[in-house]
Amino acid sequence: MSTAIVIFGATGDLTARKLIPALYNNFCKRRLPENISIIGFARKPYTDDIFRDKMKEAIAAFALDDYDENKWREFAPRIFYQQGNFEGSEPYNALSAKIDALEVPAKNCLYYLATAPEFYMSVVARLAEANLLKEENQNGYRRIIVEKPLGHDLQSALVLNHEFHRVLNENQIYRIDHYLGKETVQNLVVLRFGNAIFEPLWNRNYIDHVQISVAETVGVERRAGYYDQAGVLRDIFQNHLLQILTIIAMEPPATIQADALRNEKVKVLTALREISKEDSAQATVRAQYEGYTSEPGVGLHSTTETYAALRVFIDNWRWQGVPFYLRSGKMMKEKSSDITIQFRRPPTQIFDVQTGTTELFTNCLTIRIQPDEGIHLRFMAKVPNHGMQTRPVEMDFHFRDSFGVNAIPDAYERLLLDALNGDASLFTRGDEIQLAWSFIDGVRSGWESDFAPPLLSYRPNTWGPDAANNLLGSDGRWWIHDSKVPHGSDPASET
Ligand code: BG6
Repeated sequence: MSTAIVIFGATGDLTARKLIPALYNNFCKRRLPENISIIGFARKPYTDDIFRDKMKEAIAAFALDDYDENKWREFAPRIFYQQGNFEGSEPYNALSAKIDALEVPAKNCLYYLATAPEFYMSVVARLAEANLLKEENQNGYRRIIVEKPLGHDLQSALVLNHEFHRVLNENQIYRIDHYLGKETVQNLVVLRFGNAIFEPLWNRNYIDHVQISVAETVGVERRAGYYDQAGVLRDIFQNHLLQILTIIAMEPPATIQADALRNEKVKVLTALREISKEDSAQATVRAQYEGYTSEPGVGLHSTTETYAALRVFIDNWRWQGVPFYLRSGKMMKEKSSDITIQFRRPPTQIFDVQTGTTELFTNCLTIRIQPDEGIHLRFMAKVPNHGMQTRPVEMDFHFRDSFGVNAIPDAYERLLLDALNGDASLFTRGDEIQLAWSFIDGVRSGWESDFAPPLLSYRPNTWGPDAANNLLGSDGRWWIHDSKVPHGSDPASET
């Protein structure tokens, strides 16, 4: 059956950097459906040819696979352009005519909303008016993919979901969180439920605490218009961080079908303990990098946080009493996203531990989402030729060693294919979004109350403010990334 992908906001960064390169890579791997057409829809007065030229440049610059002129010549005739503003009706009628006039008129339609979020509602409403959303007479599917942010708080997310549901069924809506498209995030499900050795230990009896960290080296870049309104809590915590948390904490789903998985994730979000206003100052840290208010587009007196760290709890049988420490920041020392499962200490210590490593004699499983994707397990070993002295060592798995250097595709490749195939398991459902907002709104109201922690400042190229160390320090813990055992190195040489 023939398929059209319509990208709204097709002249923006996302289309050039991610969507078209991902579609091209899938095309080269022969994974796209037959008779596929890609129609860019945006305000700029481009023709098909101008748009194709721009997309050619984008593929050459951003596709992970090598650009191949022959493949491009095969791919290019499938690309079209429809000019129009997002709010008028006429461009949508023209779009409808364009879809009908394709060499093989499209039966299936996937609409990608890569516009600024304020246009989501009008694009969907206009599509419905032009009768482009109705699935009738088994005439193919009509689906939308929506980018984050999906609202800026619970109330706005409810309104958005309500408007979508007026003209679409939930199973036609694919809300993207690109972290779920990362191979390493999908591998979390395999690690937990495709192996028998971890699950028996995956609970409060064996796990001391969990850390989830998304650190970036970039600052606000050219996105101040969006970011200064959002801040890291909305930009990263509400979606990527909470999504990782749900996968780490969920119960085994009966299958990996979309609803089975998402039901389990929803249970975690339901059990996530709200951070009360009174707890705000001792359970949260917020900070802004030095120089943020001088960034282009940022208000001189902006109080937007670019860094946050939270201590959260999940109130269920499996996780009662186990803290989950979440942190994310811009302008940090390293770009890295990690999950650390810190196991409990042995009940007694009968061996001598090498000087300087005592605080490390716990087992620790670090899952590196990016870069250098892999998994590392720290355990104690006997130091040869030193009596019964012990010290921590690491067992390492790197994706690149086992599967090759180019094994990891961009997240959008997988997500676009899944949406085309009707598999929503890596997309977030409406109720997940709402629960996540409800938690984030709670944190924000603490920050707006008399109990708010101060907005601290931190130097770029650091791991954030000292207060974030105290958040764990006051519990007798520390951020593993800052510990003395960097992945794969020799701890003895560090002491
Ligand atoms: C996006 C955020 O969702 O994720 C950006 O809006 C952030 O601010 C980006 O830079 C990080 O994604 P990744 O894949 O580079 O970790």
